[in-house]
Amino acid sequence: MVTGAAPIRGKNYISGQWHSSNGRSLESRNPAHRQQVVGVFPESSAEAAREAVAAARAAFPAWRRTSRLRRAELFDNLAQLVKRDTDQLAELMARECGKVVTECRAEVIEGLHMIQYVFGTGRMPIGDVLASEIAEKDAFMRRKPWGVVAVITPWNFPFAVPLWMLAPSLLEGNTVVFKPSEDTPAIGQRLVELAEEAGFPPGVLNLVHGGAEAGEALVRDTGVNVVLFTGSYDVGRRIQQLSAEFHDRIVACEMGSKSAVIVCEDARLDLAVTCSILSAFKTSGQRCVSGSRILVADKVFDRFAERFASQARRLRIGEPLDKANFTGPLIHEAALEKVERYNALAKKEGASVLVDGGRMTGQAWVDGNYLSPFVYRMEHKPGTRVLREEVFGPHVALIPFRNPEDAARIYNDTEYGLSLAVITEDFRAMRYFREECEYGMGYANLPCIGAEVHLPFGGVKKSGNGHPSAAGLIETVTHKTAWTVNYGLEVKMAQGLDTTRDEG
Ligand code: UN1
Repeated sequence: MVTGAAPIRGKNYISGQWHSSNGRSLESRNPAHRQQVVGVFPESSAEAAREAVAAARAAFPAWRRTSRLRRAELFDNLAQLVKRDTDQLAELMARECGKVVTECRAEVIEGLHMIQYVFGTGRMPIGDVLASEIAEKDAFMRRKPWGVVAVITPWNFPFAVPLWMLAPSLLEGNTVVFKPSEDTPAIGQRLVELAEEAGFPPGVLNLVHGGAEAGEALVRDTGVNVVLFTGSYDVGRRIQQLSAEFHDRIVACEMGSKSAVIVCEDARLDLAVTCSILSAFKTSGQRCVSGSRILVADKVFDRFAERFASQARRLRIGEPLDKANFTGPLIHEAALEKVERYNALAKKEGASVLVDGGRMTGQAWVDGNYLSPFVYRMEHKPGTRVLREEVFGPHVALIPFRNPEDAARIYNDTEYGLSLAVITEDFRAMRYFREECEYGMGYANLPCIGAEVHLPFGGVKKSGNGHPSAAGLIETVTHKTAWTVNYGLEVKMAQGLDTTRDEG
């Protein structure tokens, strides 16, 4: 069980060297036992961030010239190490971010899958061979790495999301500066330690701990070609604004959501309830894809709502290291207060409360940031804030709808567009939602969470700028070049361009 393991001494990793903080530091605490310090990490200065970028720049020429297969093989080494350490990684993650250990294990496996995907991709084509108008010419599309990639990641998926970003970046020949969330520095550092053990050369993957100062310095650094970010809309927008100063900066942002499950009139009720509970409450509603809106056909609303609410009331919430629990605490007090504010706002905006969740104060929860589910019925009205804004916690609206057109309109009535699930047996309804809703990941008869790494992961509107992570990221961390070769002894031009010259 939870023993106070000695706090980890966090360090930055720059050019293959571990550096302790010589300035400010930040503490990572266990959200289930607030008095437990998981580790103490450097709160890096802008200077440290710039050093890391310089190290990545210096390592780039040799790394991009390294055989692609050699680069890929290092990911095979890393896969073996992640398999060796799966349980310890899951336990550290549970202690640091408060997700139940079974979920943490699934996340470690998701990270492993990304590593395996990248290893396999190493032997896949790296471009295309294309025809030319001129028979004697061969034409190629070849991908080239951009250079230095800054990877800035959130606390809720502290292992898989960094791997979604840094693994494809490194495979393609970029070098990386990684800044993990200041709420989960320990798991971020563990990932870099494993990469070092796997044999990634010095400077290829650098680690800078810290918060806004280090993050902002990375984004402002002219040595960074690509910024990959997952986190809040406000930070993502700031990154995009700062990056507008750079003529060739690529920014991929995966931000918030107001994802939803649509339960159609003909849905199998058991399936609908299971999908909705998982969507709403896995990770205590703290996934970017969490389904905080459940749209339910009015004909089945009451039957669905009763079963959903009764299951929500009975969820096992508690110690993250106890496998029997369904969810653990929220990440920190500020997250808890935000959900409480939205619970109060829902009441003000006219919610009929079905499950009046709030702080859990019993002995089992007293040391942690525990919040029980808050579930309410709310008619859709344009401009209702709780139906449009991201809450990031166990706060769920059940919204009745009359027909599919009504449901698609309600679904789209938010500035976000990340994830959608449709529960139906009707293939025409399924197709209708697939075509009419704005999302990046769509599911039928599944929860709106649970993506897999070989699919693109990202969203539209305020959820993302169309550069998906995971498999889709290879497009973002490379640029396409055309390369054309003439095998003839004379120059023949495309488009019939005349090559004769006046030699008189
Ligand atoms: C996130 O919600 O921040 O699709 C990432 C899922 C996971 C990843 C979620 N594979 O639920």
